[in-house]
Amino acid sequence: MTIDKVAAHYTHGTLMDAVLAKLAEAGIALDGLTAQDLAPMDHLHGRGREATDEMIARLQPQPGQHLIDIGCGVGGPARYLAATTGARVSGIDLTPEFIAVADELATMTGLSDRADFQVGDALNLPFDAAAFDAGYTQNVSMSVPDKARFFAEAARVLKPGARFVAGEVAQGPGGDVIYPVPWAMTAEISHLTTPEETAAILEDAGFRVEAIHDSTDQAMAYNQAARTRAKEQGAPILNPLVILRENALERMRNSARNVAQGRAIPVEFVCIRS
Ligand SMILES: C[S@@+](CC[C@H](N)C(=O)[O-])C[C@H]1O[C@@H](n2cnc3c(N)ncnc32)[C@H](O)[C@@H]1O
Repeated sequence: MTIDKVAAHYTHGTLMDAVLAKLAEAGIALDGLTAQDLAPMDHLHGRGREATDEMIARLQPQPGQHLIDIGCGVGGPARYLAATTGARVSGIDLTPEFIAVADELATMTGLSDRADFQVGDALNLPFDAAAFDAGYTQNVSMSVPDKARFFAEAARVLKPGARFVAGEVAQGPGGDVIYPVPWAMTAEISHLTTPEETAAILEDAGFRVEAIHDSTDQAMAYNQAARTRAKEQGAPILNPLVILRENALERMRNSARNVAQGRAIPVEFVCIRS
């Protein structure tokens, strides 16, 4: 089944130990640990925290609102959003080890009352209809063959008029994606659609698409700056490679190549639940 293969793809095995080892190596004290301290490592999408900051600006969450993060990973963006905006976030993710780490890091950062996590499939969200004031998903839908169902479930759990921001890596005009990439070792569990196709799926699922942001230029600038920094100062101790584990560097490099060659487009859809 696709979801088992996706969870297996993301399972690390000893992730919490690896995260703690990196924090120790970076000299970050666990006492007083913040979501911001973790951000260089636990935002698992292109441009990391920079992209999350943009997403938050587009989502405009209000203090006290309850948000859903669909495919929350280890919970970096959810903790960061809760810490910086005062909104509450419930994250769901297929990968049990990611949810265990997300929970533990929420406790360690003192955010467990504002960021909670549970194992779940985005295609069968374990929430009532119209349960959330707003929602987002970042770099998850590339793993989902049935995007119509994925976005219909998102629409179902959002209140009418709620804002929803969906970020993904879309198929570009430059040819097939080069594998492995962060979300898949081969094409078997990779399901890319063009930005136009995804926008049409979102509209059919019950959203009005207000804006489509292609961040190819920003991604290329970010990747170039990261390469230059790594050459001059070495790779930063805290980065997502620790979570991606197997072939991590090659997968990140292929992501950058795919964007540079127009094979992949990092894109974000700003939507309103009709
Ligand atoms: C690239 S990571 C992004 C994690 C997080 N959104 C972030 O940006 O830090 C993709 C995540 O999507 C999750 N995922 C993939 N398919 C899913 C599904 N059908 N339901 C729930 N989570 C899913 C994976 O387990 C993985 O944690």
